[in-house]
Amino acid sequence: MAPIWLSLVTDLNTTHPLNSGAEVLSTHTPALFAAAVDRAAERLRQGDVVVVPTETVYGLAANAWNSEAVRRIFTLKGRSAENPVIVHVASGAMARECAAEWPEVADRLGSAFWPGPLTLVVPKGPRIPEEVTAGGPTVGIRWPSHPFMQALIRACGFPLAAPSANLSNAVSPTQAEHVRAGMGDRVGLIVDGGASNVGIESTVVDVTVTPACVLRPGMISAAAVAGIVGAGSGEGAPSVVGKGPLGPLRSPGQLARHYAPKARLWIGHWRDERHLRAQLRRDGVDLSKAHVIAHQVIPGMDAAARICVIPADPEAYARALYAEWHRCDELGASTIVMEAVPRAPEWSAIADRLARASARA
Ligand code: TXA
Ligand code: MG
Repeated sequence: MAPIWLSLVTDLNTTHPLNSGAEVLSTHTPALFAAAVDRAAERLRQGDVVVVPTETVYGLAANAWNSEAVRRIFTLKGRSAENPVIVHVASGAMARECAAEWPEVADRLGSAFWPGPLTLVVPKGPRIPEEVTAGGPTVGIRWPSHPFMQALIRACGFPLAAPSANLSNAVSPTQAEHVRAGMGDRVGLIVDGGASNVGIESTVVDVTVTPACVLRPGMISAAAVAGIVGAGSGEGAPSVVGKGPLGPLRSPGQLARHYAPKARLWIGHWRDERHLRAQLRRDGVDLSKAHVIAHQVIPGMDAAARICVIPADPEAYARALYAEWHRCDELGASTIVMEAVPRAPEWSAIADRLARASARA
């Protein structure tokens, strides 16, 4: 156990005692929070890229009006220039500043779910540089609920372009430590706002098409979106990923393999430990390097190198999922054995992430 003085010393410092190159700022007291807002805003004004907490996943943020700063995000992440980034705002007025027009359905969806884990794709406004939208005519806008993001965007006075703060194709970070481990040597400042409360990326809804189209499922379900979209103007329910009136790759969140841990993912059901072991043996999984993530039928400790229990309700499951994947990778799992999740609407965003992570590259 760490001696008590160690945690006291940590609390007295504004920075974490982590050695990775990046400065990590805590926010867990009002004074630290305010200092972190000031420091992050100062860097962002200078055109720097800063790692920020959001309620979905951590983001790699830059001034959305500044094309050079946005280009830096792409370089740091190793992201393809064809993949647009989401712009984060802290008011309805700021959202409109980013858009050429504000469809009525965007108004209704914004009123229903903002601030929160919903991104609306609308026609791009003239102030948004091409870099943000990958040259396209639309821009994804989100008003996040995380108090640090709200305070930071207000302090800056400009919107923040931010993809998830991971290297391209890696699992999104839901804790500052994930970012530090994944790209701490590439960024100057990481703000630690605690573990992300939603845990998976926002629902992306394209409102430039009729009916609106869910490009990426998230914890705001397609059914919840449909409830709002269908409630006005007789538009009908939104179409869902892959079924929209869209060509391929309208949202690279639709790529088959995305959000994947380094370990191979095995997904299945089991009645008990014997049943699980038999299936893993059949599939040639090395049990000595397999980590099991279970939420319903918890196998005994002999089934694999490590057994993790993850909550069985979808919200808590989503909150925990990426941290479990990060942990398995960190511990050198060769296979992550996931218990399949229920086929129910409230699980569909999670099922989507599991399917993508297990898809072969
Ligand atoms: O929850 C989130 O959305 C997080 C946090 C940081 O806000 N951000 C995030 O960003 O997940 P990223 O870049 O990892 O994923 C953004 C997704 C990508 O699939 C991208 O293609 C899509 O949103 N996207 C962004 N702008 C778009 C646009 N104009 N049209 C279609 N898809 C867009
Ligand atoms: Mg991402």
